[in-house]
Amino acid sequence: MTIEESLEKLQALKARAALGGGEERIEAQHQRGKLTARERIDALLDPGSFEEMDALAHDYEDDGVQYYGDAVVTGWGKMDGRTVCVFAQDFTVFGGSLGAVVGIKIAKLMDVATKTGVPVIGLNDSGGARIQEGVDALAGYGEIFFRNVQASGVIPQISVIMGPCAGGAVYSPALTDFIFMVEQTSQMFLTGPDVIASVTGEITTVEELGGAASHVSKSGVAHFSSPNETDCLEEVKRLLSYLPSNNMDDPPFEETGDPVDRRLDDVLNVVPGEADQQYDVRDVIERVVDNGEFMEVHEYFAPNIVCGLGRIAGHPVGVVANQPLYLAGVLDIDSSRKAARFVRFCDSFNIPIVTLVDVPGFLPGVSQEYGGIITHGAKLVYAYAAATVPKVTVILRKAFGGAYDAMGSKHLGADVNYAWPTAAIAVMAGSQAVNIIGRREIQAADDPEAERKRQIEDYRLRLEHPYIAAAEGYIDDVIDPRDTRVKIAHALEMLRTKSVSVPPKKHGNIPL
Ligand code: HXC
Repeated sequence: MTIEESLEKLQALKARAALGGGEERIEAQHQRGKLTARERIDALLDPGSFEEMDALAHDYEDDGVQYYGDAVVTGWGKMDGRTVCVFAQDFTVFGGSLGAVVGIKIAKLMDVATKTGVPVIGLNDSGGARIQEGVDALAGYGEIFFRNVQASGVIPQISVIMGPCAGGAVYSPALTDFIFMVEQTSQMFLTGPDVIASVTGEITTVEELGGAASHVSKSGVAHFSSPNETDCLEEVKRLLSYLPSNNMDDPPFEETGDPVDRRLDDVLNVVPGEADQQYDVRDVIERVVDNGEFMEVHEYFAPNIVCGLGRIAGHPVGVVANQPLYLAGVLDIDSSRKAARFVRFCDSFNIPIVTLVDVPGFLPGVSQEYGGIITHGAKLVYAYAAATVPKVTVILRKAFGGAYDAMGSKHLGADVNYAWPTAAIAVMAGSQAVNIIGRREIQAADDPEAERKRQIEDYRLRLEHPYIAAAEGYIDDVIDPRDTRVKIAHALEMLRTKSVSVPPKKHGNIPL
C-alpha cells in the first residue's frame, strides 16, 4: 500500500468514526433538540483544542456494521485555556449504551485525567449497560465506578446529563462532584418507564420520572439545570472557573477589580432587626462577594440553605448561608445533606468556606425524626469539623441550639468567627425558653401573660445577644455589618497560609 493509499484508508476510517451511528440517527438526535457527541465537545472546548483518543476502538459488529470509536468520544482539550479530559457518549450508537469498548475508553480517559491532575467532564447520553454485552457491560461500569471513587477529592469530576440516562449512566454521575441537566431533553433514572410499568405497575413518563425539574428540586440528585444544551455547557465552564484542576492546586485567582475595602452601605436595609422577619440572604451574599457574582449550587433543592461559589478579593470561596426566606432558614434533613456535601467538596479542593448564620435551629417533628434528622444533621457537623480549609463565619441574626454549633462555629474548628450586633446566640429563642425554665413562675403569676412577656424580655437582655460569646472568645469580634466584606477578606488573606494536621487515620466514618 502506498503512503497515499494508507492515508486514504485512515481518512475513511476517521470519517466512519465521525459519523457515529449514521446520518439517520444523527438527524433523529437533532430532531430531539440534542447535539451529537462531537458537536457537544466542540461547544465545550476552546476551538481546535480537542485531541481525540481511541477513535478507532471497536469490537462489536451489528449486522455487519462496525462502529469505530463505539458509543463514546473521548479525549482532552482546553476549556478557557485550561486542560480538561472529556468524554461524550454517542446516543446514535446503541443508544450510547456502555459495552466493553466504551467502558475501556472511559476508564482509560479517567486514568489519564487522574495521573495528570486535570478535571474530567462527562457528557452523558446513554441507556446504561449494553444489554447485548451482559457481564462485559457491567464490568465496564464497575471499572468506571472504581475510578470515580479513586479520583474523588483528587480531580473535579463534572457530569452533564444530555439525554435519557439509565442504570450505570446515572450511577457513575452520582459518584462525581456535580451533575448538570438540560430541561426537557435529559432524564435520569435507574430504569425507564417500560420496566417500571412491568415491575411495579406504576405508569409514568421519562420526564416526570427523571427530568431536570424532578432532580434539581425533589430528589436533589442534580445540582444545576439549563434550558438548552449550549447554556448548560456554558454553565459547566462557569463552574470550572472557580475550581482548581486538582487537590494539590489552589483555586484560580482572577482579578475582579472589586475593592476589598468596599463597605456594604445598604446592608442594614436588607436584614430586618426582628429575628422572625424574612429577607433573602442572597442579597447579603451578593453584597459580600466580588461584583455580586455568585454561582448558586442546588438552587432549587432545600432552598432553606444557600450554597454556592463566588470570589472575595479575586480568590474563590464557597458560601453557605441559612435562608430565612424559606422555612425561616431552619436546618432540616435536606438542607443538612446539601450543605454537608458542599462543605466536603470545598474542603477537598482547597476552597475556603464562608458561612453566614441566621438559623432558628434544627427542625423538630415526627417526620424529620423518622427520616433520620439526627444522622443527616450529624453529616453537617461532621463536614464542618473535618474541613481543614480556612473557615470564616459571620452570625447575622440568630444562632440557636445545635444549629449554632453546626453552622461553622468556633467549636468545630472555624478560624475566624464574627457576629453582627444583631446576633442572638442561645440554646433557643426566649419565647420557647420561658415555657421551660419559667413555667412555674408563669403559672403562679396573677397575670401569667404579663409574667411571660416579662420573662421573655429578661431572657432577651440576659442571653439573646452576641456579647457572652464575645466574652468567652467563641466569636472573635462583634462587627459593624457594613464591614462584613472587608472583615472576611482580611481573615481569608491571613488564613491563606493556614496549615493544620489531623490525627493519623485511614479515613473517618462520616454518618452516611
Ligand atoms: C443496548 C440500548 C440500550 C441498552 C437503548 N438502546 N438502551 N441498546 N443496551 N441499555 C438502544 C435501543 O435499542 C435503540 O436502538 C436506541 O438505543 C435508542 O433507544 P430508544 O429506546 O429507541 O430511545 P428512547 O425511546 O429515547 O429511550 C431511551 C431509554 C430506553 C429510556 C434509555 O432505551 C431504555 O429504557 N433503555 C434501557 C434502559 C435500561 O434499563 N438500561 C440498563 C440499565 S442497567 P435502535 O437500534 O432502535 O436505534 C445498568 C447496570 C449498571 O446500567 C450497573 C448499575 C449499578
